[in-house]
Amino acid sequence: MEATIVPDNVKHYPVLLKEIISVISPQHGGTFIDCTFGQGGYSKEILKYKGTKVIALDRDSDTQKVARTIYDQFPDRFLFKNLKFSNLNNLKLKNENIKAIIFDLGYSFTQIKNPRKGLSFNSIGKLNMQLGLNDFTAHDVINKLDESSLYKIFKYFGDEKEAKFISKNIVNYRKTKKIDTENLVKIIDKTKRKKNFKVHSATKIFQALRIFVNKEISELIYGLINSAKILKKDGILAVVSFHSLEDKIVKSFFKNITTSKSFSRYEPIIEKKSFSFEMPVKKPIIPSKNEIDENPPSRSAKLRYLVKRDNNYDIDTNIEEQFYKLLEIENLSSKL
Ligand SMILES: C[S@@+](CC[C@H](N)C(=O)[O-])C[C@H]1O[C@@H](n2cnc3c(N)ncnc32)[C@H](O)[C@@H]1O
Repeated sequence: MEATIVPDNVKHYPVLLKEIISVISPQHGGTFIDCTFGQGGYSKEILKYKGTKVIALDRDSDTQKVARTIYDQFPDRFLFKNLKFSNLNNLKLKNENIKAIIFDLGYSFTQIKNPRKGLSFNSIGKLNMQLGLNDFTAHDVINKLDESSLYKIFKYFGDEKEAKFISKNIVNYRKTKKIDTENLVKIIDKTKRKKNFKVHSATKIFQALRIFVNKEISELIYGLINSAKILKKDGILAVVSFHSLEDKIVKSFFKNITTSKSFSRYEPIIEKKSFSFEMPVKKPIIPSKNEIDENPPSRSAKLRYLVKRDNNYDIDTNIEEQFYKLLEIENLSSKL
């Protein structure tokens, strides 16, 4: 793999760090799974407490460099796996009493500043957007998928109001020339009639492409289901989300496994007898004004958490049904 080209002055801030630590209380020791290792902000903080062990995952193999430095310091208490969190159940955890599983969704500042990943609309060259362990790139999506699929991706994953005209213009443009990052930004900018001068006109399309390329909907749904299964009594599931689509899935899943009604479209409403999970705080925990002043992108972060109340490993959820439309759109990648 090529070397990562990241400017040295890039600073990474672990979002809601104090709040995460207060929710998972590592001061009492135990094993923690950090599903989104990134620059290791959460893992390093947990390891400061004696008696803790961290199993960290990240799909981006570039994060292994930081993981190696932590491993050198804590060889008996730290383990890193280059793995997607939807595959959490592939970890051999039989003898581990997992105290908490944490997710800090999305991508890090280090990744967005890496021109090779092409996550930013300021990147130059071939479209990419892969975080790691992917099957296709944003270049494939923009240059190969049909107009109607592009429309659905932009509308449902980016909530882009002008999705129809943007997809039409993409398909017209690529008849003569392949589309790279700069062309895509120009096509979007020229097409959009309604401009919001505070937000870059390509923001929503880039978000939609990133979600699609990284299959973020199924990653999140199966990451949550598998975490809920793995946890034992008193285990905590904590999730930091950044955009409304992520938060909607987390909120629905948490509600789904803690409230007393079945939400199936096909079955009558059924009272469930007992619930393995409790949501101690209904409202999400959000960053303080100080944190937002220091790290403005943290302003959209929301932390939600659950506590498991028994050792039941069968999770009764219909979250896949609730989000079947989004999962169907994700499956449009089978056309590539
Ligand atoms: C916001 S960053 C995490 C930052 C981290 N909490 C820290 O303090 O350094 C999100 C990380 O999750 C990783 N990631 C995103 N989706 C993933 C997935 N499905 N499986 C594993 N890692 C994922 C990204 O590669 C990125 O490194």
